[in-house]
Amino acid sequence: MKTESDLMRDADARAQTYRQSVETRNVYPNADEIAALDEFDVPLPEGPSDAQVMLKQLDEIGSPATSVSTGPHYLGYVIGGVLPAAAAADRMVAAWDQCASSHANSPVAAKLEAIAGRWVLDILDLPRSSAVGFGTSATACGLSCFAAARRELLARQGWDLDNEGLVGAPEIKVVVSDIAHITIFKALRILGFGKRHLLVAKTDARGRIDPKTLPLLDNKTILCLQAGEVNTGDFDPFVPLIEKAKSAGAWVHIDGAFGLWARATNSHRHLTEGIEGADSWTTDGHKWLNTPYDSAMAIVKDGDAFARVMNADAVYATAETHAQTNLTLEFSRRARGIPIWAVLKTLGRTGVCEMVERHCRQAKMLAKGIDGKNGIKVLSDVPLNQVLCTTTGKETPADFAARMNATGKLWFGQTVWRGKPAFRLSVSSWRTTDADIERAISVLIDNY
Ligand SMILES: Cc1ncc(COP(=O)(O)O)c(C=O)c1O
Repeated sequence: MKTESDLMRDADARAQTYRQSVETRNVYPNADEIAALDEFDVPLPEGPSDAQVMLKQLDEIGSPATSVSTGPHYLGYVIGGVLPAAAAADRMVAAWDQCASSHANSPVAAKLEAIAGRWVLDILDLPRSSAVGFGTSATACGLSCFAAARRELLARQGWDLDNEGLVGAPEIKVVVSDIAHITIFKALRILGFGKRHLLVAKTDARGRIDPKTLPLLDNKTILCLQAGEVNTGDFDPFVPLIEKAKSAGAWVHIDGAFGLWARATNSHRHLTEGIEGADSWTTDGHKWLNTPYDSAMAIVKDGDAFARVMNADAVYATAETHAQTNLTLEFSRRARGIPIWAVLKTLGRTGVCEMVERHCRQAKMLAKGIDGKNGIKVLSDVPLNQVLCTTTGKETPADFAARMNATGKLWFGQTVWRGKPAFRLSVSSWRTTDADIERAISVLIDNY
């Protein structure tokens, strides 16, 4: 008879086989592998069935239809892989199945996430008294930070948002870059900041807000800046922008979904100069820190202000002021801060620095290897880990990407830069070696 242990051993073995295959697997499934997914598509089962049979199907049909974004040849978006330490810690998190909302619910999660938060502030060199909420995504964390910003700016005007809502409230303006990430616009839209009322700041050729053209700020304004633009990887000039915002009494939020990790390096830290003067920051673990999904961080300097807007104390479940249930959108949540803790514990300051610096160096290597060859033109000087390119011949960037991706040897995405089609190669997996970059170069320039 199969026991629970047999099932878990089988799951572990299959997961391990999958992880070992990511170096050699096609990076994206072929049409047959995708078509095979239809085998899952059956009516709701009327009753119980064997879990081992389910697992076999999950692996045998599911694994071939994965996008191998955790492998070394995936160059799409900034997705990162999963470091072994993070994957191992996540196994424990799944086994523990903690509701990581508060100390009362999970002493171990509360302790480890408090430590992870402290270490994040340390490695990113942000104000040490800030509160860190471990949310699902930079989207959710950005939304949470904007909610804190608005509530706090209104409170400074004497407005009680919690009781009065927005009807009749002083207007809070938002200044945002013309190429802010789409999820910034989504978060603002959900919060009721209508698109027509946003004050859009113009950006220069590299995608950075030009301080000279910054709309006028005041103490009822949220200024949203960017650390790591998705196409170029560039950073807004924080020192002059934050200086202007602070003298006006505005709230500054930084979207650093991936780029904030540049701050943990020696080579690229200068790009983040001045960022510590902001009021809130968002970043992801599941991108450049190479933790599993879904792990993101909302960091707010005034932790009490953050906890006031996110508070979810119930009569049957009150928690400490800065318990995670009072810092994230979720009332119940997995202990997603633990894989972050595991990465920081095992890589330490120098390990994170080495990984991020390596990816930046590899992105330069990639750009140098392909620029001007096989009809490829690199469009930026690669300030971080993103290589923005276009095609110069008859083939469109979309067709080029489709042809290259069909080789199964790599995968990357298309984009639009300054109104023109382009494509983008991102280096962000801990697995990617220099030899993998050389292989990617030969695929791209030799059509192999
Ligand atoms: C700059 C930037 N901001 C925000 C986001 C949204 O992050 P998430 O996917 O974690 O919601 C992304 C994701 O790609 C991003 O690159």
